[in-house]
Amino acid sequence: ETGYVTYDPGFMNTANTASAITYIDGDAGILRYRGYPIDQLAEKSSFLEVSYLLIYGELPTQTELAAFTDEIRMHTLLHEDLRRFFDGFPRDAHPMPVLSSAVSALSTFYQDSLDPFDADQVQATTIRLLAKVPTIASYAYKKSIGQPFLYPDNSLGYVENFLRMTFGVPATQYDVDPVVAKVLDMLFVLHADHEQNCSTATVRMVGSSQANLFASVSAGVNALFGPLHGGANQAVLEMLNEIQADGGDVDGFVRRVKNKEQGVKLMGFGHRVYKNYDPRAAIVKKAAQDVLERMHKPDPLLDIAMKLEQVALADDFFVSRKLYPNVDFYTGLIYKAMGFPQKMFTVLFALGRLPGWIAQWREMMTEPNLKIGRPRQLYTGAPERPYVPADQR
Ligand code: SDX
Repeated sequence: ETGYVTYDPGFMNTANTASAITYIDGDAGILRYRGYPIDQLAEKSSFLEVSYLLIYGELPTQTELAAFTDEIRMHTLLHEDLRRFFDGFPRDAHPMPVLSSAVSALSTFYQDSLDPFDADQVQATTIRLLAKVPTIASYAYKKSIGQPFLYPDNSLGYVENFLRMTFGVPATQYDVDPVVAKVLDMLFVLHADHEQNCSTATVRMVGSSQANLFASVSAGVNALFGPLHGGANQAVLEMLNEIQADGGDVDGFVRRVKNKEQGVKLMGFGHRVYKNYDPRAAIVKKAAQDVLERMHKPDPLLDIAMKLEQVALADDFFVSRKLYPNVDFYTGLIYKAMGFPQKMFTVLFALGRLPGWIAQWREMMTEPNLKIGRPRQLYTGAPERPYVPADQR
């Protein structure tokens, strides 16, 4: 009994940590940030307002949100020496290791402000991460296409600034499409936090050693990169392209998944917690249909994805294993329609998840008796045995 939600005693015994930030009921398909249902936040809030909610615990007043927004605006520039980091990366570098490297390197520019127990320094790092990670993300993309970087334009909104730095060029005026900005803002809201998922648990684990917030978030970026986690949104598009190249043979692909051929999985399906439809996936699916229609960019891959979902949800192999679409199943189709290359999809996930990582790290740091993360193990190796000299092996 936490006063807000009642858990069965069995769950209380298996939980690894307690948190007041995000609540998930995997069987009922419920997701709430600080008590607010995800569908209401996706429809009525904004990414910076949700970031404020996750980090500070309450929805901001208009004055508080304006101050938060302005503070972030004042920190969007990267140190020129950090900009030069990008010269060293190969053109074809995946943007996720570029992101994790640059985020970790940020700590070298603020060495006098890394104390995880100094509230002002933690606040400065919070603002710097929220402000600079979109700039780093856009530079990683620009580097990959050999285009010049654009400095941030602080007259724009948070998402608009990121879109202009990503798709704009110095030679011409770039006008952000308000539809794209609003949908991307909503997608960031949907990704903003998700309880103790792999990357958030990584951020907390690294932070539990009293490592600074930059180092902890950089570790979270690396955990998110994995195809079973944040990398799944890129893997879904690769899977849909493969099915399309195979003549759209959805039934044939599903057969390969059911036969577990070379570990073939239905990417974007299944979840460690949701054993029901991921509430975020339902919102994204509708947005995908709206965006593709409004941008007049019909995509045959959307038809393949919807056919895949229809076939899987009618097949006992998936239903018996409680495998439903997760947040990654449809997001890539929207990112593709917006003009992002597949390599940037997981970077977009990281941009959305950033406030959740920060909020969870800050919450952990306030634990009065913060203990270093130290999982125990069952030893399954050789019993004790004497050393054998090399000439007797
Ligand atoms: C995210 O934790 C979070 O909150 C994560 C996330 C967030 O917001 O942070 O929601 C974001 O990471 C979503 C998940 C994205 N990953 C994918 O879409 C990759 C494909 N999904 C699978 O890898 C898998 O479903 C996991 C890893 C997501 C969850 O795996 P589970 O719950 O550990 O399931 P399992 O491995 O115990 O599998 C149970 C059975 C197994 O078959 P059997 O051994 O019973 O025969 O289901 C099978 C699995 O082989 N299975 C799948 C499958 N997922 C599980 N079979 C085919 N396709 C799949 N996608």
